[in-house]
Amino acid sequence: MQETEKFCIYAKNLSFVFHAENTQPLKDLSLEVQSGETIALLGANGSGKSTLAKLLTGLLEPTSGELNVLGCDLCTPEGRHEVRGEVGIVFQYPDEQMVATTVEREIAFGPENLRIESSEIRRRVDHYLAHFHLDRYKNQSPVNLSGGEKQRLALASVLAMEPKILIMDEVTALLDPRGRELVMASIKELKGKTTMLLITQKPEEAMIADRLTVLREGALHDLGNPADAFQNQALMQKYNIQPPLVFNLLHAASRAANLPENN
Ligand SMILES: Nc1ncnc2c1ncn2[C@@H]1O[C@H](COP(=O)(O)OP(=O)(O)OP(=O)(O)O)[C@@H](O)[C@H]1O
Ligand SMILES: [Mg+2]
Repeated sequence: MQETEKFCIYAKNLSFVFHAENTQPLKDLSLEVQSGETIALLGANGSGKSTLAKLLTGLLEPTSGELNVLGCDLCTPEGRHEVRGEVGIVFQYPDEQMVATTVEREIAFGPENLRIESSEIRRRVDHYLAHFHLDRYKNQSPVNLSGGEKQRLALASVLAMEPKILIMDEVTALLDPRGRELVMASIKELKGKTTMLLITQKPEEAMIADRLTVLREGALHDLGNPADAFQNQALMQKYNIQPPLVFNLLHAASRAANLPENN
């Protein structure tokens, strides 16, 4: 079996250069993701996380290397076109995504473009309006929503398309604790059914993933299972990651009890 058939995302020696500014966020990056996996992606500001997300969605053209998503070769214009409806992306700033005149129409927009049957669109719209607590705004313009409400709407609109791959690019940055809970509940619900890439600056959110990865100096490093990685202090220091508070408490407790540490 070929690599591109085994993995729903396959990147090899992938590089990307912004020619106008002569910056190269990604250099010889490799990534292999199996169908149904949830991958968390950490990395400093400017490390290239959003650039990678845009490449995976076909919004940017790779400069060199291989990139195959769901069997589509994203180094070709045809492949980038073909993959569009299959990969859903929610950005850090939801304003970039609003297209419709009402909240309800906004959620229906994607499924309508995919020519889904109208009763199924109705079901999805009602489900996501309720799930993201947007019912009472359904006839309002998305423009009037608060930042966090817009982010919930952006998520509802992308989930309503039921994409095969879902990329969330720091989607919880604008959300309050309740909004974050709703998003994490959706991720839990989709886990195993949809392939997900969760880009986050919050290591505690990465705990939900099957694998933790970090983008540094243009390359992607696979740190394995998040709970194991966060317990490994040497690894955390190497990649300059602050593990969730609970792991620091565990280390402090094991030091106090003079137990051997797992690093
Ligand atoms: N349209 C663009 N034109 C030129 N350079 C860009 C463009 N977009 C991003 N860059 C540069 O590419 C690099 C990677 O940016 P990117 O937005 O992918 O980083 P990021 O990891 O998502 O950062 P953040 O955590 O701040 O969201 C940065 O140095 C950035 O300045
Ligand atoms: Mg970004």
